[in-house]
Amino acid sequence: MQDLTPLRVVAIVPAAGKGLRMNHHLPKQYLPLGGKPIVARTLLGLQSFKVIDEIFLAVRGEEKEYCEREIVKRYGLTKVCQVIEGGEKRQDSVYNALEKIDGGAGLVVVHDGVRPFLTENVLMEAVTQANIHKAAIVAVPITDTIKVAKQHGFIEKTVPREDLWAVQTPQVFEYELILDAHRKARKDNFLATDDASLLERMGHPVKVVEGSTENIKITTPEDLIMAEAILREFGE
Ligand code: C5P
Repeated sequence: MQDLTPLRVVAIVPAAGKGLRMNHHLPKQYLPLGGKPIVARTLLGLQSFKVIDEIFLAVRGEEKEYCEREIVKRYGLTKVCQVIEGGEKRQDSVYNALEKIDGGAGLVVVHDGVRPFLTENVLMEAVTQANIHKAAIVAVPITDTIKVAKQHGFIEKTVPREDLWAVQTPQVFEYELILDAHRKARKDNFLATDDASLLERMGHPVKVVEGSTENIKITTPEDLIMAEAILREFGE
């Protein structure tokens, strides 16, 4: 195991989505899961991991005060050093946080605010691999058969499953590298749904670390039912 203590490891938690797929008046990140808002659970988890030094939380501008009071203060999230305003897209929210990290960082851990079931083992593997390869992401092998169908609704091809991974967060990067990738993507108007894509387009290798299927992203009402079951099974 490498000694990571001299590295400054900063987590960025994008939680500035509107959560429209949840069909609820509250954005999904604030819905209660076992009595605590989902985003509070995600942040409490990150805070409990020794390797994380500080957390930058990105939320919607109009939710900033609410979040500082009802999430950060209320749940004693002392590692959250800044609550910043997110952007229109997830990529903008991460970018805004990256630009706010004063004095830089060794590694940046980007982790969705709506993934409360990250374990320390998985995080540590991703951090260790990122320290070696400069970029590492957590993913799980695909279990479904994946086909490509065009707009007319007929199958074009079946994609071999062995090489396919469903990508999750955390995604861990050397700070300067991911900042540069985000700046270039903005300049080129390149938009992606995860951060690793921004390095892939620059030809930079990204290491895949196998995670766990419990590390779900809570997006739909069905995900919330699943999350409650996971919580019952694995506890706090
Ligand atoms: O939209 P998606 O499901 O990919 O969202 C993943 C995470 O990114 C969520 O925690 C969501 O709140 C966050 N997000 C954000 N800013 C946006 C859109 C999504 O921080 N503009």
